[in-house]
Amino acid sequence: MKSIASAPAKIILFGEHFVVHGTKAILAAIDKRVTVTSTFTNDNTIKVNSQLGTLEIPISSSYEEAKSEFRPFIFLANKMINSNQNVSGLEITIDSDIPIGVGLGSSSACCIAAAASISELFKKLSSEKILNLAIEAEKTIFPDTSGADCTVCTYGGMIEYPSIEKISNTFDLNLLIANSMIPHNTKNSVEKVNKFKENDEDRFSQLCNLENRLIDEVIIAMKNNDTTTLGSKMSENQKYLEEIQVSNNTLRNMINSLNEISLGSKITGAGDGGCVIALVEDENMDKVPALLPKDKEYFSAKIDTKGVVWSTIEE
Ligand code: PMV
Repeated sequence: MKSIASAPAKIILFGEHFVVHGTKAILAAIDKRVTVTSTFTNDNTIKVNSQLGTLEIPISSSYEEAKSEFRPFIFLANKMINSNQNVSGLEITIDSDIPIGVGLGSSSACCIAAAASISELFKKLSSEKILNLAIEAEKTIFPDTSGADCTVCTYGGMIEYPSIEKISNTFDLNLLIANSMIPHNTKNSVEKVNKFKENDEDRFSQLCNLENRLIDEVIIAMKNNDTTTLGSKMSENQKYLEEIQVSNNTLRNMINSLNEISLGSKITGAGDGGCVIALVEDENMDKVPALLPKDKEYFSAKIDTKGVVWSTIEE
């Protein structure tokens, strides 16, 4: 039997970093996906095939023995195999069209798709259980995760976090995503923000309050289809991200250029590299190539409404 699951990438529209410290956030799943296929083998190993390489280790190995990029998969395999001693091997294959390490939630989507795919070989789990399992798996590489990324990958659509309330998206604007092509490390950026907080608890707490207030205003703007306010709130959010120092010259230049033709733009995800998002009207989309340096990639994202999906095939 083969178990196949896929999960979407995500963008954070509002609230990255502050969400790790308990504020609200607004996220959306987008139309890029990772697919994870799992199957039993008789090899007495756990084998993981991915774009990052292949790992094959004895079935008795613990996840701590694996290189960090493989740990979530071995953790999930360990967890399921321990609940069913009759298993004599597992092969897990990851195929992804989500760029890695650029703030589009590739690691969370992998954890969700892997949790759904591997668990389905053993027992039926609800989406909520798959989400909890995936967050535990992601914590093997990133202990401070807010869980917001995994949550939107699970349920799809646009959501407010942590309430998981769906936000209906009626505005007719392009969500332009531009990749700075500078890879980032979420763990390092989150640690940097922790240091900012330690150095200035008062200002950080003010910024958290400002972020929560901004998100309340965004929800109202979205309900009223007020795209001008929505765009200006993105730019306001960017100021908070600048203040906690997760921006850099490359990102700032991209944002400043995109501001010429968009209603607002900001970093999405951990920053220090990765992607920026901009709200762009249709008639301005053809101006984008001239505004971005030639080495940057960009695309217009559609919101994914499916979230994680999974099924099995008898062989
Ligand atoms: O850049 P990404 O996709 O790893 O997003 C990280 C978002 C943070 O808010 C910085 C961390 C988190 O766990 O929410």
